[in-house]
Amino acid sequence: MQLIGILCSGGDCPGMNAGIAAAAEQAALRGARCVGIRNGFVGLGRQEVQELDPVEVRQFANRGGAFLGTSRRPPDITAERLMKDAAAGCRSLGLSGLLVFGGNGTLAGLAEISSEIPCAGVPATIDNDLAGSALSIGFDTACQHGIAALDAIGDTAAALTGRIFTVQTLGGDTGHLAAAIAFAGFADAVLVPEIEEPFDRVRERVSSQLGMQGRAIVVVAEGARCAGKPEALLEEALGVRVRPTVLGHMQRGGSPTATDRFLARRLGSAAVDLLMRESSGAVTWDGADVIVRPLEEAARKKALDVHLYNSVWQ
Ligand code: F6P
Repeated sequence: MQLIGILCSGGDCPGMNAGIAAAAEQAALRGARCVGIRNGFVGLGRQEVQELDPVEVRQFANRGGAFLGTSRRPPDITAERLMKDAAAGCRSLGLSGLLVFGGNGTLAGLAEISSEIPCAGVPATIDNDLAGSALSIGFDTACQHGIAALDAIGDTAAALTGRIFTVQTLGGDTGHLAAAIAFAGFADAVLVPEIEEPFDRVRERVSSQLGMQGRAIVVVAEGARCAGKPEALLEEALGVRVRPTVLGHMQRGGSPTATDRFLARRLGSAAVDLLMRESSGAVTWDGADVIVRPLEEAARKKALDVHLYNSVWQ
């Protein structure tokens, strides 16, 4: 009987639990056994495992976070060491395949041990920055949190006019999350790490929106490149109050949306099918269907959708 190990790595995201539940269910249907590995690759090196009963794990499918726990690479351990220990953990546990939910770093690391054991990597990150997948698990829920914040801020902005609001999103060193939230939430401008806007353009845009609507809302990605703090610059340049909101990690939690659950279930189950064929790859979504791609290829950083970005500014 095949034995599949499942773990989550890097930043957790809504939908990881649904993906695990789907994988456990599919493995049972295909006559394989699943074990959950606690606390990511660090836990795999230490062989921290728990049984995954397909019926029991269903109860977690609608919850955010990752019930198995996850981990980032500890600063005192090299990436090479971490993956060597993980491969040794796979051997000691007698795994026939390893299924991992995570982002770029995770899928790149997985590629390194896929010559030793069949590995399936499923894109799961609110940053949605994997080149190989149109959508990553967790992104839709994080967008939903951002849009809810814009809606709520829009209410107060319309009532107490003459002010500027900034909303800072997560997203690491990429602006996919900020651009999507700004576009879907009808923000007036967006700042991202990939594009450095001259401050004059930001000032003009905000000033004209203030004039037309009596308020302006700017979405700022946490890694945005800007000449200085946009809030301080705008306040000084336009002489009006600027009120910032930092969404922070609330964006990474909460119950997954229907889209994230759908995606998690499709990808989690397809990942088990891949491992049952004793193959490796990234199990990705092309917008309509599941596509298996080489792990290294899928792990590359996705380029910003400039058309979407420009649409916010038009
Ligand atoms: O998982 C991705 C992410 O949420 C990024 O958007 C963010 O920059 C980072 O993780 C935060 O990481 P941590 O929780 O380790 O501070």
